[in-house]
Amino acid sequence: MYICICNNITDKQIEHAVHNDGICSMRDLCQQLGVASCCGQCHAEAAKVLEESLQQINQHPTAA
Ligand code: FES
Repeated sequence: MYICICNNITDKQIEHAVHNDGICSMRDLCQQLGVASCCGQCHAEAAKVLEESLQQINQHPTAA
């Protein structure tokens, strides 16, 4: 599902960045993928996906 229309970024790309690139904040996510760097409409949804991905890592640390 697309989260950031302006930059064509999906929830899977955000999850991948959290799990594989060590992204742990919206600031990192914006710098790495460009999420919320244009109109900003996706910020809340991107933050939600980020939070959920971080929770997955905390619940299953070896799966990260
Ligand atoms: S939808 Fe993400 S910056 Fe516009």
